[in-house]
Amino acid sequence: MTDYSEIFAQRAHQYHAAMQRDPRARDGEFLALLEDLSATAVDLLDVPSGGGYLNAYLQADCRLESCDFSIGFAGSRIPLGSPEALPFADAAFDAVLSLTGLHHVSLERQNAFFAECRRLLRSGGQLLIGEVLTGSKVGAFLNDFVHRHNSQGHVGVFFDDAFLPRLQAAGFEAPRMTVRHYPWRFADETAMVFYCRNMFGIDRATDTEILAGLRDYLDFRTTADGRIELPWQLVFYQAVKR
Ligand SMILES: C[S@@+](CC[C@H](N)C(=O)[O-])C[C@H]1O[C@@H](n2cnc3c(N)ncnc32)[C@H](O)[C@@H]1O
Repeated sequence: MTDYSEIFAQRAHQYHAAMQRDPRARDGEFLALLEDLSATAVDLLDVPSGGGYLNAYLQADCRLESCDFSIGFAGSRIPLGSPEALPFADAAFDAVLSLTGLHHVSLERQNAFFAECRRLLRSGGQLLIGEVLTGSKVGAFLNDFVHRHNSQGHVGVFFDDAFLPRLQAAGFEAPRMTVRHYPWRFADETAMVFYCRNMFGIDRATDTEILAGLRDYLDFRTTADGRIELPWQLVFYQAVKR
């Protein structure tokens, strides 16, 4: 598998620039991840967290730790970890949340990550994962369009119902999956192209080509007030540690 550790180290600043310019674009996605969170969960871990964006969506009484696998995102607030070694104490969390970070991690390393999640969770704690669905338009956009127009490529290994027995084998109970659809929202086409260019490291396409790619693969729409909605979808998993 390609070394995504190096790739994210190089382009984390661009990803972060997209998130800073348009921090609300993915509101629907962060809220979709939190839909499965137990109302009683207080101590939460977001990993890999990127720049810690989930924090903006949590209730004031939750305590969130963030952690990333890349030195591009890690810093004083966000410790560096790896799928095999997350720098937190045993049974420190009520839930571990992981949004679109595992499709660049090999299956073997994912298994090590799940063992770490089990170690970090209290009994009854939740593992919540949002990932790219195998065969989805989002998956085709990433592994086809982005792959062709990002000089480092994009090779993601995506997720489907075969992931449920893997969660069980990793020691999690009652695994469930839900596919959720929501738009990414932008003020206009220029904002959408800037965001997608930087989030996905698209350095081999003009703005016009990116716009055409987004239209062809994802079929964005303009709302009555001139804003843009880019249809997005992920598959969300939840499972419990007993
Ligand atoms: C698409 S970003 C998602 C970040 C954040 N959860 C979000 O939703 O904005 C993928 C994250 O996974 C991390 N990541 C995934 N695979 C990695 C790998 N093999 N090596 C290093 N970092 C990796 C990146 O550092 C990055 O933060």
